[in-house]
Amino acid sequence: MITETRVKIDWDSLGFDVVKTKSMFKATCPIDGKWSEGSLVPYGTIQLSPAAGVLNYGQGVFEGTKAFRTVKGDVILFRPDRNAQRMAFSTKRLCIPEMDTEFFLDAVLKTVQDNIDYVPPYGKGSLYIRPIVWGTAPALGVRPVSEYTFMIFVSPVGPYFKGGVKPLNLKVSTQFHRAAAKGIGNAKAIGNYSASLFPLMKAKSEGFDEVIYLDAIDGKRVEELGSANLFIYKEGVIRTPALSGSILEGVTRNSVCRIASDILNIPVEETDVDITDVLKAEEVFCTGTAVVVTPVGKITYQGETTTINGNQMGSVTEKIRQTILAIQRGEMNDPFGWIFPVNQIFKR
Ligand SMILES: Cc1ncc(COP(=O)(O)O)c(C=O)c1O
Repeated sequence: MITETRVKIDWDSLGFDVVKTKSMFKATCPIDGKWSEGSLVPYGTIQLSPAAGVLNYGQGVFEGTKAFRTVKGDVILFRPDRNAQRMAFSTKRLCIPEMDTEFFLDAVLKTVQDNIDYVPPYGKGSLYIRPIVWGTAPALGVRPVSEYTFMIFVSPVGPYFKGGVKPLNLKVSTQFHRAAAKGIGNAKAIGNYSASLFPLMKAKSEGFDEVIYLDAIDGKRVEELGSANLFIYKEGVIRTPALSGSILEGVTRNSVCRIASDILNIPVEETDVDITDVLKAEEVFCTGTAVVVTPVGKITYQGETTTINGNQMGSVTEKIRQTILAIQRGEMNDPFGWIFPVNQIFKR
């Protein structure tokens, strides 16, 4: 069904793909400068030197957050302050001028406001927001380049995995690691994602949805998926791998920990989680802006497949998923102050 708005989009068949929108935000900053100014420009292609730092040495980071249409029809952002903080961390780690959190939030707000017609109707999806920062000046030798470009584009999205929220079929990678201890796994650096493509495509060709990565020190502890954090539930306790330095500190991960402990009264432990613990869990699920909270139904490790909870979404996973969605959609009171109304972001 095509819902009548000023843009013609079939909201019912949205996937997780790029949809061209009206505008995007663009700002530049010299290496020794501060992030300021910038403006909205029509959505479209950009020009880059072939010697740009991002193209040659991977000097690039990004973020991912969403705007939602609530049950009352308002447009809200979910914890964009956490994305701003993580962007500040990631930029610093890659020798990019540290992102100013207020500047980031203001740019996100302006981009969403200008593309408000692309926020799907209530319950039909969300507007995915993709801020990126790249080294755009040229350099031949390996070094931080002299100028950086910050852009934000948006795209209306539906579910990340095709077929809705059916439990995922995951492969534990024993051949590849995602990130090294003391490396850049805890930054949202583009290189982490290029490293994950080969294992991901290999797993997909074998019929899996995604990959679970183990730690790069002894390969016993689970870290995360290529694009989501991992949780297990057993005997009344939720556990998720502690932030070791090689795991991305997910906004959804933190939100799930708070929802479980503060709303559902389920104890949460951030600790070492061995792969053997995962295989014995009553429920396993993954979390992320794109996947929200998605159950894991099958895990293949060293050629053997374990079915979790009869390949069904468990009741704890379901409760957590429903609670976070209800907060994001304005269906329940937000006890944490996570919701930023798009028209009042700085009045909080
Ligand atoms: C590697 C990785 N881990 C975890 C996450 C989940 O983070 P968040 O909940 O902030 O989206 C993502 C996705 O953004 C990711 O790419």
